[in-house]
Amino acid sequence: MSALILLGKPVAEKMLQDLKKDVKELDPKLVVVQVGDDPSSDSYIRQKLKSCEAVDMRNEHRHLDKKTTLKQLLSVIDELNKDPDVTGFIVQVPLPGDLNDHVPEITRAINPKKDVDGFGAYNLGKMFLSKEFEHLPPATPAGIFEMLKYYEIDVAGKHSVVVGRSNIVGKPLAVMLINRGATVTVCHSRTDDLAFYTTQADLLFTAVGKPKLITKEMVKPGAVVVDIGVSRTDKGLKGDVDFENVKEVASAITPVPGGVGPLTVASLIRNCVTAKKRQISVDTVILK
Ligand code: GUN
Repeated sequence: MSALILLGKPVAEKMLQDLKKDVKELDPKLVVVQVGDDPSSDSYIRQKLKSCEAVDMRNEHRHLDKKTTLKQLLSVIDELNKDPDVTGFIVQVPLPGDLNDHVPEITRAINPKKDVDGFGAYNLGKMFLSKEFEHLPPATPAGIFEMLKYYEIDVAGKHSVVVGRSNIVGKPLAVMLINRGATVTVCHSRTDDLAFYTTQADLLFTAVGKPKLITKEMVKPGAVVVDIGVSRTDKGLKGDVDFENVKEVASAITPVPGGVGPLTVASLIRNCVTAKKRQISVDTVILK
């Protein structure tokens, strides 16, 4: 058996196509704040700005020197929070040097109405409560659900195993799966006998950043495998999954690159549109 390859591009293109009309009407603006020159960030930001252009959405790349202090960065965030022309903004992580230790404080400084990454406590809290309350959900998990919907893969009642417990992928993905009726097991770097859990997964999601962490023997025949890990290697970008071998046992699998990546970007743009809708609606004086 060879698995169905779950490509992200057609799903992202459909999402972006569906957003074009709203972008034209609402005219939102995204600002991407970058500090320093991390090569992965350069590449991610290029993709984000390119997708903005694809839907004719206004965008700005605020590129700050690697020596930017916490105080200076917080001052930029304050300015963007107050600027009525800025719909949403993100601070690309990782940040250089000691600044990266302050990510929680930096995330907290972003106005929840403009937090289009969906990383702050307010938007995570809404996502936690129910599927219906999701407003600006974290972009990667939200993109994964778009992909599953596109390929008609249902999670309700299925055993989903999530490998990874980051605040931006693993943890929110696990909660969003629960809110969609899945039975969820979360594994991480401290899990003993990872294969014991992964071999029981109907759907296996992995977001660790360790090439070939998931081998063929660790996957139940017929499982759906979603690879969210990204590592830069001499042989290019690699996911967590030994793709060539795992595709022989899985029923469906995402490649890296070309799987989940484009959906993160499309979800970010959708969050900008959603944020703008909320900002212009009259009943937003009090956050709901
Ligand atoms: N670094 C890698 N992915 C992301 C993302 O989705 N948002 C931000 N802000 N930084 C990232």
